[in-house]
Amino acid sequence: MKYNILTEQKEGIATITINRANKLNALNKQTIKELHQAFKDLNRDKGTKVIIITGSGEKAFVAGADISEFADFSVKKGAKLATKGQKKLFDFIENLSTPVIAAINGFALGGGLELAMACHFRVASDTAKMGLPEVSLGLIPGYGGTQRLPQLVGKGRAMELIMTAGMINAQKALAYGLVNHVVSQEELMPLCEKIAGKISNNSLVAIKHAIKAVNAGFNDDVNGYASEIEAFGDCFGTADFKEGTTAFLEKRKADFPGK
Ligand code: COA
Repeated sequence: MKYNILTEQKEGIATITINRANKLNALNKQTIKELHQAFKDLNRDKGTKVIIITGSGEKAFVAGADISEFADFSVKKGAKLATKGQKKLFDFIENLSTPVIAAINGFALGGGLELAMACHFRVASDTAKMGLPEVSLGLIPGYGGTQRLPQLVGKGRAMELIMTAGMINAQKALAYGLVNHVVSQEELMPLCEKIAGKISNNSLVAIKHAIKAVNAGFNDDVNGYASEIEAFGDCFGTADFKEGTTAFLEKRKADFPGK
C-alpha cells in the first residue's frame, strides 16, 4: 500500500512529511485521513513531545486542497467537505495537546496555508510562498482560512490577501506575523528541531494547559480568562509542578515526569 505521508521519530520529536511531491503535496481525501490518524496516534504516544509537519520535495509545503477531487461537487457536498476537513484535521490540530510546528518549505496555498495556520506556530524557508487563492477558483477558503488568517495578520491584510488571491513571500509573511522565523531551506528542519528541543525540556502538561488557554481566547463560546484561571489551578495538582518548583528551589534542572 502506498502512503501519502511519512512519519519519523527522533528524541521525542516526530516529523510528519506529506509525501505527494508530484502533486505539490495537495491534500486529497486519503491524505487528510492519514494525517488525522497520524496526529491522533502521535498525540496519544507518551514518547512524542513535539510534532513538526512539512512537505516533501523542495517546491511545496502543500499547494492546497486537491482541486481534482471537488471540481464536480454540489452545494451539499462542498459544505460536507469543509465540515469534515475542519473537524478531522484543521480544528483537530489546533486543539491537539501536543505542540505542532509547521515547517513551510515552499508553496503553502489554500488548504496548505490553512493547514500551516492550524498548527501552533510556523517557520518558513526563504523560498516559501503563501496565499489563499480560492477566489480565483470561484471559491472561498473552507478549512478555517477566513478565520485564522485575520487572527494572525489582522483583518485588512487578510481581506487583501483573500480578495486578490495573491501570494506573499516569506519575508512579507514574517513582517505580517504569519510565520515566526525565516531561514534557508537547509536550515529549516534544524531550526524547527532546535525549537522543538527547547519546548520538550519544559513541562508538557503545563504546555497542554497553555495551548488550551490560548485557544480559549479565540473561541466565542468560552471565556479565555476563566479558562486560564481553571488551567492555572489545575497545574498545581500536577507532578510536573512539584518537580518544576522543587528543581528551581534546589537549583537544578527540572526532570519533568510529564503528568
Ligand atoms: N490540487 C490538485 N493538483 C495540484 C494542486 C492542487 N491544489 N496544486 C498543484 N497540483 C498538481 C498539478 O496539477 C500538477 O499535476 P500534473 O503534473 O499531474 O499536471 C502538479 O501538481 C505540479 O503543479 P504545476 O501546476 O505543474 O506546478 P507549477 O510550478 O507550474 O505551479 C502552483 C505551481 C502552486 C502555482 C500551481 O500548481 C497552482 O496554482 N496550484 C493550485 C494552487 C491553488 O489554487 N490552491 C488552492 C486550492 S483550493
